[in-house]
Amino acid sequence: MKSQTKKIVETADGSSTLYMETINEYYHSKHGAVQEAKHVYLKNGFEFWKSIEPGKKRCNVFEMGFGTGLNVLLTYLAHLESSVEIHMQSLEAYPLSSDVLKGLNFNSFLPNIEHMVFDKIHTSSWDKRIKISPEFTLHKIHQTLEKFTPEESIDVIYYDAFGSRAQPEMWDDSCFTKLVEAMSPGAVFVTYAAKGSVRRALDRLGLTVELVPGPPGKREMIRAYRQL
Ligand SMILES: C[S@@+](CC[C@H](N)C(=O)[O-])C[C@H]1O[C@@H](n2cnc3c(N)ncnc32)[C@H](O)[C@@H]1O
Repeated sequence: MKSQTKKIVETADGSSTLYMETINEYYHSKHGAVQEAKHVYLKNGFEFWKSIEPGKKRCNVFEMGFGTGLNVLLTYLAHLESSVEIHMQSLEAYPLSSDVLKGLNFNSFLPNIEHMVFDKIHTSSWDKRIKISPEFTLHKIHQTLEKFTPEESIDVIYYDAFGSRAQPEMWDDSCFTKLVEAMSPGAVFVTYAAKGSVRRALDRLGLTVELVPGPPGKREMIRAYRQL
């Protein structure tokens, strides 16, 4: 996967994504990368968690699949509008090269974005906690999910692996168990997928599982949470 060529393509909302021809897989939805990320991870993940836990002033977000850093960037932008301090961990087995990252248009696509932020997210060291702002700490973890063990409790999980057709092993029950076990009461798990096997796995792990409307181009997606 590391050595596969990645092509930059424009999605339907004008924001970029990457395409890997060999496995015929995109990093985001062709129907709109930013639109999808905002809907799945921000609206149904972080914002939904805030509605369950309105009194909490700190949120530990865990992302499976750092990729282009788009979800980190959008979560950073969300923290500017909120009084919640965020500690975000983002796991990635195959970091992208700076040449590929330079071609993405998120800086120009998103309004009012401080341009250094995207660069700071990408140039910050791996495997260290880095303060991107006083209220936003980023810990990029260069590791495979298979070898990763959560060391702290999690409030929101963004599960953003490649689809099961391209990478079936990322949708196996064993991938979810250790992440879900680290979820605090009130914690939320979101993914763009709607697969029955994933819903059943999350249910067996004790979460309340819902199918909610998906982003453009996708009827449904999974949102699950641990009861308070
Ligand atoms: C759908 S993309 C993530 C997109 C990303 N969230 C973004 O906003 O650009 C899936 C990511 O999972 C990574 N990945 C693939 N296998 C992995 C594994 N075993 N452990 C951790 N990351 C993996 C890929 O390299 C890729 O960056």
